[in-house]
Amino acid sequence: MGLDHSIGKRTTLERWTAEAPANIALIKYMGKVVSEENKPSNASLSYSLDHLISRVEIVRSSGDQDELAPLLSEDFETLTLSEKSKTRFLSHFQFLKEQLGIKGHFKVFSANNFPSDCGIASSASSFAALTQAAYQLALDLSDQKAKVEALSPYDLSMLSRRGSGSSCRSLFTPWALWRSDGAEKISFPWVYLHHQVVVLEKEKKEVSSSAAHLRVLTSELFKGRPERAGRRLEKLVMALQVQNWREACELVWADFWDMHALFETSTPSFGYMTSGSLSILEVAREQWKIFGDGPMVTMDAGANVHLLYRPDQKAMALKIENQCSSLGSALTKVISSPSLKGEA
Ligand code: PMV
Repeated sequence: MGLDHSIGKRTTLERWTAEAPANIALIKYMGKVVSEENKPSNASLSYSLDHLISRVEIVRSSGDQDELAPLLSEDFETLTLSEKSKTRFLSHFQFLKEQLGIKGHFKVFSANNFPSDCGIASSASSFAALTQAAYQLALDLSDQKAKVEALSPYDLSMLSRRGSGSSCRSLFTPWALWRSDGAEKISFPWVYLHHQVVVLEKEKKEVSSSAAHLRVLTSELFKGRPERAGRRLEKLVMALQVQNWREACELVWADFWDMHALFETSTPSFGYMTSGSLSILEVAREQWKIFGDGPMVTMDAGANVHLLYRPDQKAMALKIENQCSSLGSALTKVISSPSLKGEA
């Protein structure tokens, strides 16, 4: 099992660095069996978004506590974090220090290469980058070096999960399968997929994903959800293995609707879909209806719509980007993978 994201190694003496990508779940993790440990109710499968990256750098500090500061670099956006997010990030660092035998205090610098207000969750990428950077640090400074050196990518993924559940999948690229404790790499014939996220909402969500994980347990539809998601996952793995794009897309479509149905049928009910989201879903549906082929569509706990395309669907992706952009005011912007920046 290889950890094949190009994780940054220590770049200069006494500076420990790592990068990790965001990921989009195709079978969703929703609901937890052990809430405080982010143990999922069901297995999930994700594709990493290698153009949306978080970077973490750690240096020693002479202070008496750990500190978090924005990483200033021209390739990255300057981050403004709420006190709550800072506390959550630093408590994961504290957990990692305890697990990895790291003593002393440090300054942690963090940044994303995508704007924090663009509605794309950065918790998966940033917690995965923090876990990797702490691991680099532990390889040098731990007082339990043998234990640290024996850690596998799966073990690191388990550690990352404790900070943010979905971050455990961001340690593997492009595909990650998370069954229970940690995620692992899984390979399919499609390695590179074009990606677009249609950004419809930049505001902070009224119901965070942490709250959603708890609230869905009140939905009548939650009964059977872990089994349904599990069956879908096994079918999706098979469809991706044999490159049955249509079936894979149908399964992914069904799973995000399943999750959004849980939201809407919870007590109290909540939801993220907007009329803008529905317009984009309609564009994708029309594409499938007219041409018998189309993008893989999914939505997280938010209004934004993610579209994935096979390598040979580049012209379609560019056409759909134009269609989405012409929908007007409901739409903020489309963020595309670098492969879609050129001409078809
Ligand atoms: O890792 P969390 O607690 O932010 O949960 C993520 C939940 C979803 O994004 C909605 C689905 C998923 O599997 O990523």
